[in-house]
Amino acid sequence: MKPTDNPKTYRVKSFGCQMNVYDGERMAELLEAKGIAPAADGEEADLVVLNTCHIREKATEKVYSDIGRLQKAGKKVGKDPIIAVAGCVAQAEGEEIMARAPAVGMVVGPQAYHRLGDMLDRAVKGERSTDTDMPEDAKFSALPKRRKVAPTAFLTVQEGCDKFCTYCVVPYTRGAEISRPFSQLVDEAAKLVEAGAREITLLGQNVNAWTGENAKGHAVGLDGLIRELAKLPDLHRIRYTTSHPNDMTDGLIAAHGEIDKLMPYLHLPVQSGSDRVLKAMNRSHTAESYLKLLERFRQVRPDIALSGDFIVGFPGETEDEFQETLNIVDAVGYAAAFSFKYSPRPGTPAATMDGQVPREVMDERLQRLQAHLGRDQYAFNKASVGKTCDVLIERKGRRAGQMLGKSPWLQSVFFDSDLQIGDMVRAELVHAGPSSLEGRVLETATA
Ligand code: 5AD
Ligand code: SF4
Repeated sequence: MKPTDNPKTYRVKSFGCQMNVYDGERMAELLEAKGIAPAADGEEADLVVLNTCHIREKATEKVYSDIGRLQKAGKKVGKDPIIAVAGCVAQAEGEEIMARAPAVGMVVGPQAYHRLGDMLDRAVKGERSTDTDMPEDAKFSALPKRRKVAPTAFLTVQEGCDKFCTYCVVPYTRGAEISRPFSQLVDEAAKLVEAGAREITLLGQNVNAWTGENAKGHAVGLDGLIRELAKLPDLHRIRYTTSHPNDMTDGLIAAHGEIDKLMPYLHLPVQSGSDRVLKAMNRSHTAESYLKLLERFRQVRPDIALSGDFIVGFPGETEDEFQETLNIVDAVGYAAAFSFKYSPRPGTPAATMDGQVPREVMDERLQRLQAHLGRDQYAFNKASVGKTCDVLIERKGRRAGQMLGKSPWLQSVFFDSDLQIGDMVRAELVHAGPSSLEGRVLETATA
């Protein structure tokens, strides 16, 4: 494609967290508002947005190899795609990418992507541009309206992080904590529901740090927002992620015992079970304060499914300290979890700490940790067999005729029945696997 050709098709490839998925959807809407259509499956797009993640591993190398692959694939069909690099790698390493990869026409950070349209106009003229500004709150009001959405939708309510855990790049790539205004969020949620969403997951790097002012001008926390959204008649389920132990409020804990639409699931990363490691991570909670917090959730909602994030091999982590992580896992009994090997991130304090743990040690610890976590997830699933619950059908399963949805506890439940995406089924959970359950439909309603 010559630089002067207007792109007709686009593809947004999002990596990493759910917030990137949300950002990716908003960029897609923006491109569609400019008359660009999604590329068909298997077709090379005229414009590709690589919406990148910088949190772990060799993020930057992956971007370069993706760029190479796109150029090669484009050549085969005789076009030169316009490539945009977005997301956290763009924020952290944008200038270097521009210098090293001439094929990239645009570099746009997570707080600046509402300007992608203008950047594209320039790219079409052959002008390359970088925008990694962090203007406060301009992005959301500048984005186009929400379009038709799936039964489950994400809604970013809070962005950025002021916690500065010593291993993490997020405070640098996503900037300081900001909360989107209450009225803007209620409005966007209503539009998502109108467009077909039946479940909304509120997103934020520190989602439970969200604060705002309700319609009466009263200061409210995340529970106040959840209470308001629960009033939307066609919205059946509300979730939120990711929370920080230090921002947990009495109101949010209480909400789990009071609001039926708030699902019985809490993702609360702990990272390590060792107080020495937690301190070195700058987590500002202890293993004990974390466990006490979970206990309070269990008091108001005894069936709550708990989930967490873990890092093994943080600099200086000893075998005994790792054992403390296994102990906390055993004490909690997680329904789900995400566990990672520590990955030094450029510019973070931990990257230059003494006692970097050898890769083989990390591999071995991760394996042991995952054995405990897998065992607990399977146990949680087995304990669910015989329960009756609602399942919101989200997509087709892998086998022909199979449909897949989520239980209130965020377990995947599959059915060999004739169901539609968006159905809310009353189901009995009849069989448990390590990471999913089989359901039997008792009753179907179009949600
Ligand atoms: N190395 C490994 N894991 C990390 N995480 C964040 N930064 C790093 C890192 N440098 C994990 C944490 C966090 C999750 C989103 O990613 O567990 O909660
Ligand atoms: Fe990163 Fe810590 Fe902020 Fe989470 S709380 S985004 S791990 S700095």
